[in-house]
Amino acid sequence: MIFFYLCPYFLIITIMLSSKVEQILVEQVEKEGYSSNLYLAMASWAETEGFPGISDWFYAQANEEHGHMLKLIHYVIDRGGKAIIPAFKQPPVAWKSVQDAFQQALAHEQMVSKSINNIVGVCLEDKDYATCQWMQWFVTEQIEEESTVNAILDRLKLIGEGSLYNFDKDIMSMRASS
Ligand code: FEO
Repeated sequence: MIFFYLCPYFLIITIMLSSKVEQILVEQVEKEGYSSNLYLAMASWAETEGFPGISDWFYAQANEEHGHMLKLIHYVIDRGGKAIIPAFKQPPVAWKSVQDAFQQALAHEQMVSKSINNIVGVCLEDKDYATCQWMQWFVTEQIEEESTVNAILDRLKLIGEGSLYNFDKDIMSMRASS
């Protein structure tokens, strides 16, 4: 279906999303919003545990995930869809250790990567090549995010729990570029 609307200066013509693609993108809004809340919970926990650097890293990550959610919301609306804002389940409140928090972060990002790949698959089946191309930004972002968290886990493995003080001071230099 073709969707027309007038903005003050241009007649904008948009090919609307199919309901299938719209639905899967809205489901991703929930996943990105939950990601943001999960990192906020990790940030709050790390701050309470006395790790300001690790906490700042998680707060920055929470902001990035919030940005991913907004990106999806704007895209759905720009393509003539309705970006329904879902309820978000409550994330955990504590982790066994810093290592455990980053292991959980990696597992979460791997789940998000699968979800992004699944969206690309649905777009291809639907012959929605525009959304497929648009989603490539998320594909690249997920590779960077997984790689950054893997690098943090490798560093943590090397230093062990004993040297967390120095790690806490250095962690903000380990951020995915996005
Ligand atoms: Fe936007 Fe890392 O999921």
